[in-house]
Amino acid sequence: NIRGFIFDLDGVLTDTAEYHYLAWQKLADEEGLLFNREANEGLRGVSRRESLLRIVGDKHYPEEKLQEMMDRKNQYYVDSIQNISPKDLLPGVLTLLDELRQAGIKIALGSASKNARPVVEKLGIANRIDAIADGYSVQRPKPAPDLFLYAANQLGLEPAQCVVVEDAEAGIEAALAAGMWTVGLGPASRVGEAHVILPNLADTDWTKLRAKLNDAAA
Ligand code: G6P
Ligand code: MG
Repeated sequence: NIRGFIFDLDGVLTDTAEYHYLAWQKLADEEGLLFNREANEGLRGVSRRESLLRIVGDKHYPEEKLQEMMDRKNQYYVDSIQNISPKDLLPGVLTLLDELRQAGIKIALGSASKNARPVVEKLGIANRIDAIADGYSVQRPKPAPDLFLYAANQLGLEPAQCVVVEDAEAGIEAALAAGMWTVGLGPASRVGEAHVILPNLADTDWTKLRAKLNDAAA
């Protein structure tokens, strides 16, 4: 009996995954660190610090330098999201949010990003979201279940009443660890563990999703 939906942000509601990538690429280029689009695939849904640690690899940097690099990347990212508007919502998102609301289902955001709130406001969907779990909400990042458990708690729901929509492997892992239903967006190589897999939210609606989740439960 589904009573809540928890949406990841980057790569699910909007394509800010691209802006995160470009910001990391700029930093890596400045620092002479090897990085590219392919390496970036593994950073989907990964926290800021863990992303940087993966980019620097075996190289050792003092903590201050790591901090400075994280700040610099974030500044590039913040600059690049200034012009985000409702046009940047991915196809199908708005209608699904409205259908869920109509059906009396609560909606939360479950994003590792510390920039989630400003992005949601620029997208114009803040008034459609009942609770926000973001990069400030919990200590342990995905794939730990903490962020999604925090979101469910904010909604006043049990994990088994919640569906998580995610585009990242770490996110699906986190949701399953939390004991929630999962919808994975993207290739099975990335979100293959999810109960329901879709390319994106464009051609679905709440009725179809509910049927697929029921099939997965049977
Ligand atoms: C999301 C994105 C990641 C990003 C993380 C932290 O999970 O998918 O690419 O690294 O949030 O975002 P932040 O805005 O706090 O650096
Ligand atoms: Mg994501």
